[in-house]
Amino acid sequence: MKIDIEDVLYWMDAIRNSEDRYRTLESFWKGQVHSKIWLIDNLTKVVNLNDRASITIYGGWNGVLASLLFNSSLEIDYITSVDIDPTCETIATTINKLYEIAGKFSAITADMCEHKTSTNIVINTSCEHITLEQFRTWLSHMPKYATIVLQSNDYFVCKEHVNCVSSLDQFKDQAALSTILFASEIQFPLYKRFMIIGKK
Ligand SMILES: C[S@@+](CC[C@H](N)C(=O)[O-])C[C@H]1O[C@@H](n2cnc3c(N)ncnc32)[C@H](O)[C@@H]1O
Repeated sequence: MKIDIEDVLYWMDAIRNSEDRYRTLESFWKGQVHSKIWLIDNLTKVVNLNDRASITIYGGWNGVLASLLFNSSLEIDYITSVDIDPTCETIATTINKLYEIAGKFSAITADMCEHKTSTNIVINTSCEHITLEQFRTWLSHMPKYATIVLQSNDYFVCKEHVNCVSSLDQFKDQAALSTILFASEIQFPLYKRFMIIGKK
């Protein structure tokens, strides 16, 4: 994937302007970025690239996935990035500044369990950060027609991870999607990341 240099300059602004620069940098760690490239590589294989995409990203954190999606081959009308942490809103808006200016991006502060959407793609790469009960509540609100992209991991030692899974099968059982378009895992030095793409 080729990244617009203007985006990279806004990424640097976002880090420079952050109160906690190290925390913002965490969203650019190799494992984080590779997981998102893996997501985009496989999402672009299962959706019709002629259809315009509207996307909601839950637990969107600092908006790095949104920025990478805007640089992908998907034709994107709009991305909304939802995160419960209010510090993410400003950072994600700077990281996606070009698209915010173009009227194609917004970051909002909300609990994903209380947010509804009508976009045709829904992404949650933060499944390990919410309890199984929250995960089920959130998923129950997602539209049946949407392509749903889920990621979790087996990095149990991180205290922010309240719902890791031990295997892809366990993750599939939790998600209980009726159609699975893609399901796989990727091994990183410290953990495995699991991904499922499908429909409810
Ligand atoms: C560390 S980040 C993202 C990690 C993940 N591996 C990724 O890159 O997508 C997890 C995010 O989930 C957010 N989060 C946790 N619970 C949430 C909720 N109920 N609603 C929305 N966002 C939530 C946190 O604020 C945090 O920004």
